[in-house]
Amino acid sequence: MEQSLCTITSNVEVMSSIHLMWIEAPDIAVAAQPGQFITVRCGDFTLRRPFSIHQVSSREIALLFKVTGKGTLWLSQQQKRDRIDILCPLGRGFSIEPGARNLLLVAGGIGIAPLVFLMQYAVSQHQITLIHGASTAAQLYTERSQPTAISYQGVQFVPVTEDGSMGKKGMATDILPGFLDRADQVYACGPLEMYKAMAEMSSRAKPSNLKLRKCQVSLEVRMGCGFGACYSCTINTKKGLKQVCRDGPVFELDDIIWQEVRI
Ligand SMILES: Cc1cc2nc3c(=O)[nH]c(=O)nc-3n(C[C@H](O)[C@H](O)[C@H](O)COP(=O)(O)OP(=O)(O)OC[C@H]3O[C@@H](n4cnc5c(N)ncnc54)[C@H](O)[C@@H]3O)c2cc1C
Ligand code: FES
Repeated sequence: MEQSLCTITSNVEVMSSIHLMWIEAPDIAVAAQPGQFITVRCGDFTLRRPFSIHQVSSREIALLFKVTGKGTLWLSQQQKRDRIDILCPLGRGFSIEPGARNLLLVAGGIGIAPLVFLMQYAVSQHQITLIHGASTAAQLYTERSQPTAISYQGVQFVPVTEDGSMGKKGMATDILPGFLDRADQVYACGPLEMYKAMAEMSSRAKPSNLKLRKCQVSLEVRMGCGFGACYSCTINTKKGLKQVCRDGPVFELDDIIWQEVRI
């Protein structure tokens, strides 16, 4: 874990209230693993804000964040060449089992952020299907979002929207069962309701649903310190108490006691 003052190389609103920010951080770009996160000091706020590492290049890391409150508003207003104080890389990320070929990624809304890093990390060696659900087409993170924001080359990209404005109409979890048979491993990031629906699905007797038990999910609970010192992120799991910032944020779906999780 390292604290650094890093230079912003770009900060663009790629969709309404969603920013893609690139930060110069060569050491972190080399060391970071998909699913890990950083914390950012946002202006004068005491608590740093956690964000998944969304992409890496040889010298930079990217964040994809939604403006939801004062900290993210401050971050959205930072300009190219401004410097930000970050702490990273933090947490334990996604893992890929040796021998797994077909990876199924399931993103709900801004949950796409860490899965893009996993996708880019794995795409040269694996077949990747990425289901991305959002309320409307305008909230889908597609290649049309912004010309330079993202490329899904080599990936089966499956959009789903609640209003049917792009892809199938419905939720990501509605179409998920149709993709489970082919998947060797499943990864997800999204809202609590999506995880609860997946946990419920995993308990149904169909053999392909059993794959969801080992599905790796990224949990976004409220954090104080972000590195294991304050215990504010502690959750109860089937394997005992865990700190999301240090033991996670990636956990197996089946290990979480979903009724007790508060996000
Ligand atoms: C491991 C991890 C990875 C994350 N990755 C991303 C990402 O890639 N993109 C993205 O847009 N958001 C991500 N989030 C959520 C992001 O941290 C919050 O949206 C952000 O902290 C809100 O700060 P705020 O000051 O704007 O909002 P406020 O509501 O004003 O924040 C008040 C406090 O609550 C915390 N908080 C508020 N909402 C959340 C939340 N959903 N999760 C955790 N803490 C929250 C803030 O950190 C702050 O301490 C992640 C959260 C975690 C824990
Ligand atoms: S946020 Fe402080 S221990 Fe996890």
